[in-house]
Amino acid sequence: MTTDLEQKWNLRYADGDPAAASPCAVLKQFAHLLPPDGAALDLACGLGGNASFLARRGLVTRAWDLSPVAIGKLRAHAEAHGLPLRAEIRDVERQPPQADSFDVLVVSHFLDRALAPSLAAALRPGGLLFYQTWTREAVDDRGPGNPDFRLAPNELLRLFPNLRLVAYREEGLFGNPAEGLRNEAWLVAARPSA
Ligand SMILES: C[S@@+](CC[C@H](N)C(=O)[O-])C[C@H]1O[C@@H](n2cnc3c(N)ncnc32)[C@H](O)[C@@H]1O
Repeated sequence: MTTDLEQKWNLRYADGDPAAASPCAVLKQFAHLLPPDGAALDLACGLGGNASFLARRGLVTRAWDLSPVAIGKLRAHAEAHGLPLRAEIRDVERQPPQADSFDVLVVSHFLDRALAPSLAAALRPGGLLFYQTWTREAVDDRGPGNPDFRLAPNELLRLFPNLRLVAYREEGLFGNPAEGLRNEAWLVAARPSA
């Protein structure tokens, strides 16, 4: 049975094309931190802009989302381009990633606070989390209207207390709102090596 949430995202992706999906800015900006190989996950991947980028960098990549439409399109895209990418329909709230399973984990524009401990635990020692999502402090109406799906000031910093901070960016409402990073926060953090 298709849930309302699935239906909503299926509709959103009906006209989408994974070839036009970009990786999130924090992943692009800090791509030099990626390992040359290993296992990566794009969680709540949508059309898989992050997943395709990771797979092109040589990481064996999984991409999970609850939308069968998005996953079907991403699978076809990966196959057509010979990418090392496995796209799977998966409700990540019901089935979070297993502990110690990924060298790189990317989450963009998805927020489920209860998942944070599982995400941190899913990293292998030395593994990196790239996270980018919407903040409540915003200069325009981009992003979800429901404040539950937006981060409070510095909340992304606090969600992963056991990871080592590598990079963080959140500019809130300071200064000239026409410049800089607005409406979003970026985090790159690592599981300390054993
Ligand atoms: C705003 S989109 C972001 C997609 C992609 N990460 C991006 O940045 O373009 C949010 C995604 O989360 C997915 N999603 C929402 N709840 C989910 C869940 N419980 N399990 C898996 N995916 C979920 C939706 O299907 C949707 O593709």
